[in-house]
Amino acid sequence: MTTRSKIVGTGSFVPEQVLTNRDLESMIDTSDEWITTRTGIKQRHIARPGENNSDLAVEASRAALSMAGIEPAELDLIIVGTLTGDMPMPSVACLVQDRLGAGHAGAFDVSATCSGFLYSLSIADKFIKDNPSMKILAIGSEVLSRRTNWNDRTTCVIFADGAGAAVVTGSDDEGGILSTCLHADGSVWELLTIRGLGTAHPIDQDIISKGWHYIEMKGRDVFKHAVKALESVAHEAMERAGWTNEDLDLLIAHQANIRILDFLRERLHLPKEKVFINIDKYGNTSAASIPIALDEANRSGRLKKGDNILMISFGGGFTWAGVTMRW
Ligand code: UT7
Repeated sequence: MTTRSKIVGTGSFVPEQVLTNRDLESMIDTSDEWITTRTGIKQRHIARPGENNSDLAVEASRAALSMAGIEPAELDLIIVGTLTGDMPMPSVACLVQDRLGAGHAGAFDVSATCSGFLYSLSIADKFIKDNPSMKILAIGSEVLSRRTNWNDRTTCVIFADGAGAAVVTGSDDEGGILSTCLHADGSVWELLTIRGLGTAHPIDQDIISKGWHYIEMKGRDVFKHAVKALESVAHEAMERAGWTNEDLDLLIAHQANIRILDFLRERLHLPKEKVFINIDKYGNTSAASIPIALDEANRSGRLKKGDNILMISFGGGFTWAGVTMRW
């Protein structure tokens, strides 16, 4: 029997504050009709001042650990996929390690934008293949609302805040991660970026007046790259798992746009019930979107033992990834 990495607990957390499309109508030149038809989003959760990335990540982690029946002190590693850490230093993972009381765990962040959770989960998978007794927390957590230009209607209606977590350990039963595929293309980074705040463009008045501390996205170009990459990595991950489309029980794709999810459903010949959708409630939470969806699918009883699940992501960098697992 092969030992595989298995998710034994999931958790998620979103800030209490909800911002609806109607609320946005009174803030910028937009409409509920445009946002709904072009993106599928109806509302999103936004962190209150003082509510930080690590706060969301800790709540999601506690829920995942509680489901797994694992104490924080038992954790060996904490990996956080994020692009909106509380501070450049330390990592969100170190803050989570401290707050959980996971003193035995190593901790680091992964910078892979919307693919941050799947990159983190793939890294966890490799560690567990090396040492199946390890207990690893893989997290995706974002406070994108603080990197969003609230005067830019092409981005502020889309991005939002939230966190999701998964506890991963070695297992000898039928379930577990079957394949992981990671990809990137740095040549087109300017299509989706936050130019400022790093060492290339340290923060000053000029950077602020140019708005380089905010997310910039060439939406239509990103869309074209996203559909191509997501379809391709879906096939690659399934092939590596020895599956065809017909073997798939649930697709959990990054919740970036309902039109991307519809495109994938058609191209992969999947019935509606096999494509998980919660973008209407949460918007695009980048690295948090897949683990939040996974936790919702899990807690709502949508994942049955033995189900074949494909998770795929795409984001700035560009980065894209695919992971298959048997539940
Ligand atoms: O998570 C990382 C990966 N991200 C993605 O995968 C995002 C991919 N891109 C998208 O989801 C879509 O491109 C967007 C939702 C961002 C934009 O939708 P679109 O259908 O590509 O719109 P567009 O940018 O082509 O703009 C169409 C029109 C423009 O007006 P004109 O020039 O035709 O008069 C925009 O100014 O829609 C206008 N527009 C809006 N109108 C009302 C753009 N944003 C808004 C808005 N409300 N919020």
